[in-house]
Amino acid sequence: MQSIAEQDFGTPQRHGSGTVTLTIDGQEVTVPEGTSVMRAAALSDVKIPKLCATDQLEAFGSCRLCLVQIEGMKGLPASCTTPVAAGMKVTTQNRQLADIRRGVMELYISDHPLDCLTCPANGHCELQDMAGVVGLREVRYGYEGKNHRVAVKDTSNPYFTFDASKCIVCSRCVRACDEQQGTLALTIQGRGFDSTVSAGQNVSFMDSECVSCGACVQACPTATLSENSLIEMGQAEHSKVTTCAYCGVGCSFRAEMKGEEVMRMVPNKDGHANHGHSCVKGRFAIGYATHADRILKPMIRANITDPWREVSWDEAIAHAAGEMRRLQARYGRDSIGGITSSRCTNEETYLVQKLVRAGFGNNNVDTCARVCHSPTGYGLKQTLGESAGTQNFDSVMKADVIFVIGANPTDGHPVFGSQMKRRLRQGARLIVADPRTIDLVRTPHVAADFHLKLRPGTNVALINSLAHVIVTEGLVRHEFVHERCEVDSFEKWRGFVADARHSPEAMEAVTGVPAGAVRAAARLYATAGNGAIYYGLGVTEHSQGSTMVMGIANLAMATGNLGREGVGVNPLRGQNNVQGSCDMGSFPHEFPGYRHVSDDSTRHLLENDWGVSLQNEPGLRIPNMFEAALDGEFKGLYIEGEDIAQSDPNTQHVTAALKAMECIIVQDLFLNESAKFAHVFLPGSSFLEKDGTFTNAERRISRVRKVMQPRSGYADWEITQLLANAVGYPMNYRHASEIMDEIARLTPTFTGVSYARLDELGSIQWPCNAAHPDGTPTMHVGEFVRGKGRFLVTEYVPTREKVNARFPLILTTGRILSQYNVGAQTRRTENNQWHAEDRLEIHPNDAEERGISDGDWVGVSSRSGETVLRSRVTERVQPGVVYTTFHFPESGANVITTDNSDWATNCPEYKVTAVQATRVSQPSEWQKRFREFAETQDGLLKGAAVSTLK
Ligand code: SF4
Ligand code: SF4
Ligand code: SF4
Ligand code: FES
Repeated sequence: MQSIAEQDFGTPQRHGSGTVTLTIDGQEVTVPEGTSVMRAAALSDVKIPKLCATDQLEAFGSCRLCLVQIEGMKGLPASCTTPVAAGMKVTTQNRQLADIRRGVMELYISDHPLDCLTCPANGHCELQDMAGVVGLREVRYGYEGKNHRVAVKDTSNPYFTFDASKCIVCSRCVRACDEQQGTLALTIQGRGFDSTVSAGQNVSFMDSECVSCGACVQACPTATLSENSLIEMGQAEHSKVTTCAYCGVGCSFRAEMKGEEVMRMVPNKDGHANHGHSCVKGRFAIGYATHADRILKPMIRANITDPWREVSWDEAIAHAAGEMRRLQARYGRDSIGGITSSRCTNEETYLVQKLVRAGFGNNNVDTCARVCHSPTGYGLKQTLGESAGTQNFDSVMKADVIFVIGANPTDGHPVFGSQMKRRLRQGARLIVADPRTIDLVRTPHVAADFHLKLRPGTNVALINSLAHVIVTEGLVRHEFVHERCEVDSFEKWRGFVADARHSPEAMEAVTGVPAGAVRAAARLYATAGNGAIYYGLGVTEHSQGSTMVMGIANLAMATGNLGREGVGVNPLRGQNNVQGSCDMGSFPHEFPGYRHVSDDSTRHLLENDWGVSLQNEPGLRIPNMFEAALDGEFKGLYIEGEDIAQSDPNTQHVTAALKAMECIIVQDLFLNESAKFAHVFLPGSSFLEKDGTFTNAERRISRVRKVMQPRSGYADWEITQLLANAVGYPMNYRHASEIMDEIARLTPTFTGVSYARLDELGSIQWPCNAAHPDGTPTMHVGEFVRGKGRFLVTEYVPTREKVNARFPLILTTGRILSQYNVGAQTRRTENNQWHAEDRLEIHPNDAEERGISDGDWVGVSSRSGETVLRSRVTERVQPGVVYTTFHFPESGANVITTDNSDWATNCPEYKVTAVQATRVSQPSEWQKRFREFAETQDGLLKGAAVSTLK
């Protein structure tokens, strides 16, 4: 169904090198080579009727409504499938064309329910529009013939309905699922009159391969595929462009609104990260923002065993600030700190770190990026000089070989996963290194050339053996290395990896990957042309996370795969603003822009601007805060948008630390797991309720725009400002844009960023400054940010986490498409219909050995704790490895993960835990305690007369 604000040019944009001039209805038009006649006409405001064409899909030429006359050309070609040619003379309107178009429309309408007034697409239906455009006045065939008007609706999908009675079999939905999404869930079944759209082999949408991305709904020109929200509430009347608050792809959406109510989220065609595509989360899963569980009034309590007391904002802020000051007076300046989140905007994160550094007077600030991509920051800074990915997403369309390491793009970064699959269907080669068989290994028309199914925890051994092949088989790009890198460091590294102990044959026993496959994969990566590496938390969340990031950078430098389009080292960031939260100085050792707190010139710059003196020593990281709390030295914590009690490893250790503190302030949408240990609750705002920016995995800064007033009265940045003023550090921003102006003024990589520039350009990839006024799509062109690229020796050090007779399996964790992180948002949506619980994947051999059948309850115990999950017996995991997601708090995935962490950054080793799995019949002791505690806390919440949206 049409968007209320976007023009459809009929066929996709072409970027041909030359241009072509032609004449359309007497008007001279110049367009890029390869453009269709239909698009050329639309670009010059000549509208040719169309039904099967849309600018999001390749032309198909089935409806014959867009016929035109072209001088010198036989017949009446379809303008959507005819490319422009120099000197072409096109006539789009004459009597003959009008008669044919009217005839086509008569046929369509004779088999269409004429219920326009009660149809959800009324006013936004392309069929209705075309009937008007061609001047349809009568249908000579009548309406009584054989028709599809009795077709049964498919309402299986919770977000959209398929009403086959309205289908014109234009195939746009099928093509959207093929071309945009790459799932190929839909087909046109039958022939002629019996042709119908079918999900899979005549099953419902919900039972098919459909992943509910919404591309078919967007493509449908009629109300055949309609959002349930529009069916229930009618059409929107205005829209605003904003950015998805879920994953690190950072898709741009139009929030289509009626008053302050969101009717639907429409992926923005002009979105630079998503080009009009979306996934089920950003497209549909926004119900959490108005969920009855939202807490809208501030609350306080003296002890976590007390009922919550609803209070005014003034009282809550005064109490929170008073407590923080009391703790500092009693236990010292360093006894408190703050944690910000990758879900917050840049502006919010900047303010939290400023509050801690300038208001609390210490550097005890950290972010949840600590537990995901901190090794990326460290590893890439050490080797390339900048703590960020090197490319934009579109770069993948120029990659010849794509190497995916420890990432699951189709689940974790779905819109980019679809783009990657598009490139693979075009013929790019694929190497996957992952202990588990992720979907990308084999999906429709895509199959990995090599799946290096390594044992969890052996990444560095694998990367060294790949490097060994490159170095010893003469595959190094020496001219690149000599021109662009520190040659001494290269020689040292080359000597290291060339050692026979790193050969694939020697490492096979460690990694479990056949040496032949490693050799072949290394040759492919080094010689296939543009080699692009994409990696995720399967790389970083290890005791050698930083080492592995460096190993990846080494490999890319040695093969010359940096500094141009189609190549690069690309961390896929999990949450929407992981990149931004790191950029904004939320680590205890770094000011905004990755400048160390000991750097005098930066510190003096900030001290002058902020009017305070700042500490020159790093503050506490999250795990250090926990240790200090248990030692009785750390007493107060301000947590904005993060749920450490669920997301951080070794839950029992975390909750013990939380219990040891005297004042925990949680600012969030819901009473999350951490808030159950809090003394002050400040109700936060959803992304729909505030202005700001997110920075995605490509370093792309995009605007978040307020589409409704904050439900609790304040946007999150305003709450932090109130708190800062109350602790005695004045802040007086009138709009989020003023915070960005300050960031730009004080951060060299952001000097060119402002809301005005973002409005003008749509989005900006930093660095954006005098040298790069429009931003930087590709980094390290010509020269690395640090000057010469630095190779670093990456010795493989096995993790301390060992399997033994007691814990013979390795547990590794990951996420799933329909849920997001700790699930606080997606669990409060219909997405639960796809994934209602975390399950333990176990290989059939391991299951059989233990008498475990699919669906059985399984006790999973580690050196840290025990939990119980239901099993899924599957060959996706290899023997000896089990896997689970971590989206539900009661699953207790982090009760079993350990305290092991990356040597450089303390990023937890979520991906390797030695466990045992046994069939059980009841919840674990921890789960029983968890349920009891949760029930008690729910009771204490009910006592607060909490205002909800019910
Ligand atoms: S929602 Fe997406 S995956 Fe499902 S059928 Fe439509 S295009 Fe295909
Ligand atoms: S469901 Fe919509 S897009 Fe698909 S064939 Fe029918 S009318 Fe066309
Ligand atoms: S891919 Fe990520 S950013 Fe895009 S819609 Fe899905 S969750 Fe949102
Ligand atoms: S729009 Fe060209 S044939 Fe349908």
